[in-house]
Amino acid sequence: MILAKEFNRNRFARDSDFTISTNGPQPPTIVQFGANVPQELARASSLVVPFSSGVDLNCGCPQSWACAETMGAALMEKRELVRDMVIETREQLRRDGWGVGKDKDIDNPKGRSVSVKIRVHKDLRKTMDFITTVLGPDQDRHIDWLTIHPRTRSTPSSTPINLEALELLTSIFGDRVPILLSGDVFALNALPFTSPLLTPTPTFTTTTTSSSSPPTIPTPSSAEAEKTNNNNNNPLTYHIPKLAGLMSARALLCNPALYAGHTACPWSAVESFLNHAARGPLPFKLVLHHLSEMCAPGMGPDKSALLARQERAEMMRCGNMLDLIDFLDGKREVRRDQF
Ligand SMILES: Cc1cc2nc3c(=O)[nH]c(=O)nc-3n(C[C@H](O)[C@H](O)[C@H](O)COP(=O)(O)O)c2cc1C
Repeated sequence: MILAKEFNRNRFARDSDFTISTNGPQPPTIVQFGANVPQELARASSLVVPFSSGVDLNCGCPQSWACAETMGAALMEKRELVRDMVIETREQLRRDGWGVGKDKDIDNPKGRSVSVKIRVHKDLRKTMDFITTVLGPDQDRHIDWLTIHPRTRSTPSSTPINLEALELLTSIFGDRVPILLSGDVFALNALPFTSPLLTPTPTFTTTTTSSSSPPTIPTPSSAEAEKTNNNNNNPLTYHIPKLAGLMSARALLCNPALYAGHTACPWSAVESFLNHAARGPLPFKLVLHHLSEMCAPGMGPDKSALLARQERAEMMRCGNMLDLIDFLDGKREVRRDQF
């Protein structure tokens, strides 16, 4: 979440919050803002869309400083303001010459999206009112898609997501707007619900010992995939047919290869990350932080780790990029010799 007001006013905020590679075409990137004034969100969006695929408004951050400023999850009580912010932003982008026709502009190189990420209320009728207001008319809805984090502002992230809420909200609104789930997406083969979105799910059982051998890709039948996609201990079986996508945060930090079907972080992901980090202006402490997440057991049921706890502690003592690369090469070499 980038703070729109500061982004608009301060060159240092812009430089530190938003840096992109100028190295050829980049993957689609959505820039998310925290805002509470329509013109601020519209202006900040106008600044970033030449370098991104779209903008998102954060209505989910529960942190007290954000809520005190009427940003993040506090916006769940301000549905008209959220509607006005996305309308103003869409209008600004239209005036700037971008394609904001939603599905019509999917293949348009100038097409840009405006979306919103929300939490749910304890009383789901309030969430339904919120979504109805923010969506607007079906023939020209105000947002391209909606991401739902099915927890309330005060639900700790250790409490499982509210699948009943997700089931209800997607069944009511899923035909009117693409809905993405954010929350507890830990591994593609271990989601606590079934959905056509996940069938068939390619699964790479990650070998933490070697990445040179290609992972096996089982192609499960629909029935098998549904079974594995629903392997939690929940006695209720949830089926979410109208889900359009999955967003992952904590699990993706540990395993950036999650969407490729890996159940744990493979060495190839570490290698790829290091190659990018060596070229990009990423502070060394951040490089170490990401690697400590990637080399530890992940969030899903596969708890294999690239490095043991003691080895991770040793890695954190590396003082520079060269030491770090040598250290990881050494660890990987030892594993190659052992297996
Ligand atoms: C380190 C970290 C940073 C996050 N930053 C943001 C953010 O900037 N904007 C946002 O909407 N959510 C943010 N979240 C929340 C996640 O998007 C997500 O809704 C939440 O963590 C639950 O999903 P998960 O189970 O996949 O982690 C963040 C979460 C983590 C762990």
